Amino acid sequence: MATLQISSSLLRSFLLMFCLFVIPSLSSDSDPLQDFCVGDLKASPSINGFPCKSAVSASDFFYSGLGGPLDTSNPNGVTVAPANVLTFPGLNTLGISMNNVELAPGGVNPPHLHPRATEVGTVIEGLVFVGFLSTNNTLFSKVLNAGEAFVIPRGLVHFQWNVGQVKARMITAFNSQLPGAVVLPSTLFGSKPEIPNAVLTRAFRTDDTTVQNLKSKFAV
Ligand code: GLV
Ligand code: MN
Repeated sequence: MATLQISSSLLRSFLLMFCLFVIPSLSSDSDPLQDFCVGDLKASPSINGFPCKSAVSASDFFYSGLGGPLDTSNPNGVTVAPANVLTFPGLNTLGISMNNVELAPGGVNPPHLHPRATEVGTVIEGLVFVGFLSTNNTLFSKVLNAGEAFVIPRGLVHFQWNVGQVKARMITAFNSQLPGAVVLPSTLFGSKPEIPNAVLTRAFRTDDTTVQNLKSKFAV
């Protein structure tokens, strides 16, 4: 009898742990609990997203910032215009967002990852080398023409490089209202406060001058 009680309480604990930890990790953002909840960006974010705006109109569900053209005259030759919950609050609680990404010829969207989303994208114009790395450092890459698509599994490092002669344009989409982006060069060399040089010289097996030089390029 005692054994039966122990095993049923073990089973209950297991089910509780399963519900608390495993089920939420099956999806990206949490599922909505109502038709919509247009984000009130003036309010402080709550535990998961923004509180809902009280008065809503049609314009909350439309966004006209993805059309470009974008100015790509910057050191990387890339500009990203995001339609995420911060620019398009109608996405709040809906678990999706998009970017318009434009690359000058030779431009690179530097290695980065999205901690909260898988990315799917399509090339609209131009020729783009798209690559991502698995956690065992295998590079999966392909040169894509207009109309071709790619997927970047959640959290994996990836990049895009315009290998054509003209501007390239992609539309990317995410299963998160705010996928977040950890852009490796600026995260490592442009953080505030700085990562100590001793850490970076050891990690990159290089010297102080090289690290200092990289930091000077990413200082904000
Ligand atoms: C491209 O990788 C993007 O994050 O939009
Ligand atoms: Mn990306």
